[in-house]
Amino acid sequence: MYKKIGILTGGGDAPGLNAVIRAAVRTAIGEFGMRCIGIEDSFEGILGETQLTKLTTKKVSGILPRGGTILGTRNKGSFCKIVDGKMVIPDMPIDEALSNLKKNKIEALIVIGGEGTLAIAQQFHNRGFPVVGVPKTIDNDLSATELTFGFMTAIDIATEGLDRLHTTAASHDRVMVMEVMGRNTGWIALHSGLAGSADVILIPEIPFSFDSVVKKVYERERNGSEFTNIVVAEGAKEVGRDEMYLDEGNLRLGGVGEYIRHNVERITGKESRCVVLGHLQRGGSPNAFDRMLGTNFGACAVRALARGQKGEMVALKSGKVINVPLADATAAIKCVNAEGQLVRTARDIGISFAAPNEEDF
Ligand code: F6P
Repeated sequence: MYKKIGILTGGGDAPGLNAVIRAAVRTAIGEFGMRCIGIEDSFEGILGETQLTKLTTKKVSGILPRGGTILGTRNKGSFCKIVDGKMVIPDMPIDEALSNLKKNKIEALIVIGGEGTLAIAQQFHNRGFPVVGVPKTIDNDLSATELTFGFMTAIDIATEGLDRLHTTAASHDRVMVMEVMGRNTGWIALHSGLAGSADVILIPEIPFSFDSVVKKVYERERNGSEFTNIVVAEGAKEVGRDEMYLDEGNLRLGGVGEYIRHNVERITGKESRCVVLGHLQRGGSPNAFDRMLGTNFGACAVRALARGQKGEMVALKSGKVINVPLADATAAIKCVNAEGQLVRTARDIGISFAAPNEEDF
């Protein structure tokens, strides 16, 4: 049994990070008598001078409803750089990190993060250091788990956003466009679009055409609705074009919402507005589901370490937390199935994905 474990959070913050930390600390101390060390600012905290903090049950008291992470996080740094517009994970600092872990008698790690963070965790495993990962991201784009924590809160926020935009759209007879996060997947757009009664949902998995977007606006007008609500994933692409970036060098997606607003207004002459929901989707208190899922993930991750499991990630499958190899978790991103049930349901209830041949579906 490990005497001392390290816990770190990496990548963008997501609602539920503190729930995982709290559950991991309470389980490790209360159930297994382990000591817990929080590593600050992701993997950066085990480099150089190190930034480590003792985690006690008192220290994690009251953090369950808090957004962000008490440990701090980074989505770029010594372990993860962007070179020529591509995410690169250099091998170099692992030696330094391993030696610092040894110096501080940290025998195993719980790494809470998304694709990039878990890929770094895999490198520690490859070097023989015990690691268990916990899948975090509002994007829900990790394969090997049905859900990541943070996603459910993000879609609650996006749904509320759509509800609120709906009233302005209907009152002013406007086209309202809401751009949501999700990187190169459309999970947030699809789920919130269904829950918030969008008329058009644009996702990276189904390239859109303006002809089809505009057809939907006109179809609604013919049926007596003078307004249209569009939700667009930041990574959505027009047919024949790439995704749009605010800052391509740093791989910061964005701009597609305004692009759609501008062109829909230009083509239809209808007054249109765009709202970019941005980091509102990541900030603030986690909803009940993410508190529950984060708590279960945190406790299960510690139990996995205590059982001697290594190089694994906790994952949700059919409502139960299981363990899967870390390598499976980072092998490929999980995309929306364009022929899947949820897309079918959306189309059946009249939502358009603005594919060039949308009417054939
Ligand atoms: O991966 C989470 C996420 O919020 C994405 O949806 C988004 O593209 C990105 O992070 C934004 O990152 P940053 O906080 O660096 O702007």
